[in-house]
Amino acid sequence: MPKIVIQNLHNKEIFIRNENTNLLDVIHENYVDWMHACGGKGRCTTCKVQILDGSECFSPETPAELKYREAKRLLANERLACQCHINGDVLVKVAPENKFSHINYSD
Ligand code: FES
Repeated sequence: MPKIVIQNLHNKEIFIRNENTNLLDVIHENYVDWMHACGGKGRCTTCKVQILDGSECFSPETPAELKYREAKRLLANERLACQCHINGDVLVKVAPENKFSHINYSD
């Protein structure tokens, strides 16, 4: 079962039971509060994750991600959680600009 570790959330571990569920939904199903201003429609970048390891385990980029990457609003190591699926173990972190003030991050 693929595993997500969120480094700056105290290395929170999440296991993916269904690889057809997008990353944002997987995170929310595991009771992790994660920003998603457009409601998971690929129209903002607030859900982005920064990838520290396992980028090969992410699904191919969607047109929405390519648009934001071209506009330099998505860096090479970043993906939109609402647009991607995971099929192996990954290490990610919350982007600094998308942190909530009510959550105690570990970096
Ligand atoms: S929630 Fe807006 S792009 Fe993912």
